[in-house]
Amino acid sequence: MPSIYYESFGCQMNAYDTEVISSLLGSEGFGRADSPEEADIIIVNTCSVREKAEQRAIGRLNDLSRYSGAILAVCGCMAQRMGEKLFESVPGLDVVAGTDTYFELAGSIRDALEKKQRTSMTAVDGKITYSLIDGRSPGGVTRYLSITRGCENYCSYCIVPYVRGRVRSKEPETIVREASEMVSAGAREITLLGQNVMAYRYGDLDFPRLIRRMIDETEVRRLRFLTTHPRDLDMEIFQLMATEDRLCPHLHLPFQSGSDRILSLMRRGYTRDNYMSAINEARNILPELAVTTDVIVGFPTESNEDFLQTLSMVEQCRFEAAFTFKYSPRHGTSAALSEDDVPAEAKKERLSRLNETVQRIRLEILERQLGTDSEILLDDTVKKGEYRFGKGRTNHFRNVLVPETEREPGDIFRVRLEKLRKFTFIGKEI
Ligand code: SAH
Ligand code: SF4
Ligand code: F3S
Repeated sequence: MPSIYYESFGCQMNAYDTEVISSLLGSEGFGRADSPEEADIIIVNTCSVREKAEQRAIGRLNDLSRYSGAILAVCGCMAQRMGEKLFESVPGLDVVAGTDTYFELAGSIRDALEKKQRTSMTAVDGKITYSLIDGRSPGGVTRYLSITRGCENYCSYCIVPYVRGRVRSKEPETIVREASEMVSAGAREITLLGQNVMAYRYGDLDFPRLIRRMIDETEVRRLRFLTTHPRDLDMEIFQLMATEDRLCPHLHLPFQSGSDRILSLMRRGYTRDNYMSAINEARNILPELAVTTDVIVGFPTESNEDFLQTLSMVEQCRFEAAFTFKYSPRHGTSAALSEDDVPAEAKKERLSRLNETVQRIRLEILERQLGTDSEILLDDTVKKGEYRFGKGRTNHFRNVLVPETEREPGDIFRVRLEKLRKFTFIGKEI
């Protein structure tokens, strides 16, 4: 049985897609290898969101093709964006498979194995919603599950709509089946994924009603979701969080910029006031809600004044954490038509100021939790010499280490948050 080694770059949706591809190819008779050295085939799932992500993937693909005699396939967003041009950037490459072509992947891998034939597939179907063929394959206590694919918001800087296609929602029955299978394989926490999960709609079923079904029809102990867009935020979800302790009180809500002028150029469809009122409304329903975000610095024409507004937004919204990025022009997006005119030095300086502010506020929020109790899900154990640590997360998504515990991954129990080491709590079981 030919065996495949998988490597995944990019977002959580890519991590889930890698599982889908592995389940599809598993059903076609391909096994899994634990390292590139043992593999007959190597599949790299790639991201296009920033130029650096693509450069890293191309570097890795070239390394793999130099050191391995395996068949080399690339899939995901960069495969979709670059198509057969990738054969020039990676001479040793055999298969390029865009985001809607995974049902044909087994055939093109066989062509490469048996006939040394190269294939590039980038056709767009626009309707495919993949699902795991068998969610019972081993997968750990925390799992991802995509409920939508694609995005049609066309934020001016973003490549995702071009490489992932239109929004489509998966059938609720399929989602419930996958979740139940994951639970029977040991999953205790499932994160529902989509570029904008609040855009989920299947017939009359919207996102809050899907969550309701997940709570009623599956045994999953914890549910999370990623990502949401401020324009589609549905307050009903916070009512659910307030009453259902299986739905974790955490919201990832990217704001991208604190300047209304930049938000409008980004085509985000909200103002800073809209965003802040939404957060306030959510916190009125659920005061303990943890909010995290994404921010971009150095968008074309961003002035120091604009940037100061981004900083003040972080101060006012008090985010628990933020993923922060330097703007990277993506060919084909409308923002890429404007000059990338914020000097690299200014982008770097703004990013580090932003990170300082984010981390200071993060620490303030975490310090306030010291001495309180929290439920954690243990997701890993680490041995260091004599000591055995458990690693887990609270339902607010805060990191906790539990020294010298007998507990196993998958266990859920209460701890007292006794100390902070950087951004990780040291907890004691109570
Ligand atoms: N669908 C999600 C995010 C998808 S991409 C949303 O709308 O929030 C993840 C993050 O990458 C974005 O939130 C944004 O902050 C960042 N990003 C996207 N395109 C980028 C670009 N061209 N340059 C820099 N950061 C970018
Ligand atoms: Fe990109 Fe905007 Fe869609 Fe998010 S909502 S994936 S940033 S286009
Ligand atoms: Fe990257 Fe594609 Fe995700 S571009 S961020 S892997 S949707």
